[in-house]
Amino acid sequence: MSTYLVAFVICNFSSVTAQTKRGITVSVFAPAHQINQTDHALQATVKILDFYEEYLQIPYPLPKIDLVAIPDFEAGAMENWGLVTFRETSLLYEAQTGDLRTKAWISLVIAHELAHQWFGNLVTMEWWNDLWLNEGFASYLEYLAIDHLEPSWCVGEQLLLGSVYKALEKDAFLTSHSISLPVSNTMQIRERFNIISYSKGSSILRMLHSYLADGVFMDGIRLYLRQHSYGVVEQNDLWEALSEAHRRRGSVENISALMDSWVRQQGYPVVSVKIEGNRVHLRQDSFTVPPQDNTNSLWLIPFTFYSCSSPISYSHLMSRREEVIDLPSDVSWIKANVNSSGFYRVRYDRATLGALATQLYWGPDIFSPADRASLIDDTFHLASQGSVGYSEAFDLSLFLREEEEFLPISAFLGHMTNMVAKFSFSKKPCITRMLKEHLWTMLGRLVEAQHWEDEGLLSTQNRRVKLLSLATELRYLPAEQDAVRLFHFWMAKDGNHPLPRTLRPLVFRVGVRRGGEAEWNFLLQKYRESFSSTDRVAMLAALCHTQNQRNITWLLREAMQNEVIKTQDLSVIVSQLAHHPRTNELAWSFLQSNWDELLTKFSLGSSYLCGMVTAITSQFQSQKKYDEVFHFFITQKRLGHLFLVDHSLEMIWVNMWWLQVHTNAVQSWLQKTYPKTFSAYPHCKKEHSSGFMLTLKF
Ligand SMILES: *[C@@H]1O[C@H](CO)[C@@H](O)[C@H](O)[C@H]1NC(C)=O
Ligand SMILES: *[C@@H]1O[C@H](CO)[C@@H](O)[C@H](O)[C@H]1NC(C)=O
Ligand SMILES: *[C@@H]1O[C@H](CO)[C@@H](O)[C@H](O)[C@H]1NC(C)=O
Ligand SMILES: *[C@@H]1O[C@H](CO)[C@@H](O)[C@H](O)[C@H]1NC(C)=O
Ligand SMILES: [Zn+2]
Repeated sequence: MSTYLVAFVICNFSSVTAQTKRGITVSVFAPAHQINQTDHALQATVKILDFYEEYLQIPYPLPKIDLVAIPDFEAGAMENWGLVTFRETSLLYEAQTGDLRTKAWISLVIAHELAHQWFGNLVTMEWWNDLWLNEGFASYLEYLAIDHLEPSWCVGEQLLLGSVYKALEKDAFLTSHSISLPVSNTMQIRERFNIISYSKGSSILRMLHSYLADGVFMDGIRLYLRQHSYGVVEQNDLWEALSEAHRRRGSVENISALMDSWVRQQGYPVVSVKIEGNRVHLRQDSFTVPPQDNTNSLWLIPFTFYSCSSPISYSHLMSRREEVIDLPSDVSWIKANVNSSGFYRVRYDRATLGALATQLYWGPDIFSPADRASLIDDTFHLASQGSVGYSEAFDLSLFLREEEEFLPISAFLGHMTNMVAKFSFSKKPCITRMLKEHLWTMLGRLVEAQHWEDEGLLSTQNRRVKLLSLATELRYLPAEQDAVRLFHFWMAKDGNHPLPRTLRPLVFRVGVRRGGEAEWNFLLQKYRESFSSTDRVAMLAALCHTQNQRNITWLLREAMQNEVIKTQDLSVIVSQLAHHPRTNELAWSFLQSNWDELLTKFSLGSSYLCGMVTAITSQFQSQKKYDEVFHFFITQKRLGHLFLVDHSLEMIWVNMWWLQVHTNAVQSWLQKTYPKTFSAYPHCKKEHSSGFMLTLKF
């Protein structure tokens, strides 16, 4: 057993206990006043443990497993063998205010930590360069388990939005790194606990799972666990077990060769598709923003597709730079990377993209929601890279006028809010205004159909939260008024008026934003009194939306004190402040003036610190800010070797580049599409895209 998995907890908590099918004792520990919030975790743990024992065909080796809610905890949870520790928000479910989203989140975190009891604890990576063997597996199996236990939650949607798309976005930066990478000190080890190990790791396992037959993947990982129980492994051991499982079913495939290209290389490919009659020409290049043309990387790509003439999905393993597939008949389009099961993007030639856009507009249901979402996500990322025009990307997005599904709506919203932030941080009210109009034209009809309630499946609830949040961001009056009214009912009943559970965070936020001192003070009072950690995070986040800077400064200082506000929740405050130009500046000054103290609380290289810093710096987009970041971290603090510094500088550089290269194209499409707004809005007469010169080299 590895030393990093040993834990002792000394506490006077209460506990609840249950047994699994095989009689393993499961206990959940929490402070006495929160012990009635442990039901969900207890039941979920029993089910998940039973599921893993069945799926992995290896019994959990200890007689008991304890789960403890730790009141102040930097990470989300930690998988110590038989004694798993959690942040309160990742374990406790308060029945009076808790919503389905929270339940699903807690289930996923538990499933992640329990997966580690096998992947990490029973079989441990030999050294931290293979950390992804732990984290990638746990991050993938958590979805596999919960999808099996609660199919109606459709957690696959969260996996796509929260892991696959995010990893694709981060891995397009030059400051990214390969999944497997030498590490030689603790700071580097800490830095590996990042999106690449977790999300790219889980994405490529998902790709492999869908490429191999379901049974092969399952047999392979069972074999891997059996062969290496109580031992240490490196990734080749995994590939060999999977190859062996494959061989036993009569297929030969060198899994190691297949996966090496994904694990040992940084980045990922974009496959360019060009159709000529029945011939489909493919070409792979590395995808970066902006594009680099000097890479020789090649990947073994499980290329899947269906076409306008056949809905059956084909799979083709692409290994060379350029390949050709001959179809039985001529086609006008193919849709590749079916359901985003592969970790790559697809770029279509102009005619094919046009045909896809037409199909999306007139008959979108031929594509699954995941395929509609990936068409949006890929096309906007390709536009941002410059290999597809923004006018084509926006034209393609027009099908969303009729869209109902959470996935494509979220993908689209993500890109639009990103752009809105870029333009509002660079003080371009005219484009910002027209972008918002585009958002409203696409989604307004759906927004208007939302009610302040908790009805529907998880996916419907997630969609409602996004749409109503959008409505209040866009200052859509009826939605704002509803939120303010609910807040005031709630306030009048001293916090006992029931609010729609999923919408509590939004009601709090709008209540504070539209309210004054009384609303802020009331919410702060409730924050102090509440026993629900999840609700407290929602309240804290809302408190950051006050117009009063003194109150914001107070929140930041309190979080450093660790009394009224726990230091673990500082990142909640910072991430809220980071999103608005006015408060971003406040957070940035705070971070600089308190840097040394922050380092006494969070370690260099921790994902916590990295997350806080990059939340702020990812919004910067001027030479001035670039210089400030450079000066502070490199000249003053001598931290040039930190990933978060390199990555911040690259993000700022890319933002500057993006604005310079794309502002005109975005503006002209919007201007053409919304000419009335353009001519009626005074700012639009004055605004021209800034012509600043880029002199920086990154
Ligand atoms: C849980 O326990 C707390 C503290 O004893 C109590 O205030 C609260 O009402 C209880 N919640 C439920 C749903 O019973
Ligand atoms: C599989 O591929 C790896 C890496 O490309 C190579 O080292 C190994 O020899 C191959 N194994 C077999 C059985 O061909
Ligand atoms: C893609 O996802 C849809 C569900 O949205 C599913 O019905 C379909 O079978 C999936 N396609 C493949 C090839 O897995
Ligand atoms: C919040 O701001 C108001 C108005 O400036 C002030 O009266 C109040 O004391 C502040 N509260 C805290 C906790 O800082
Ligand atoms: Zn983990």
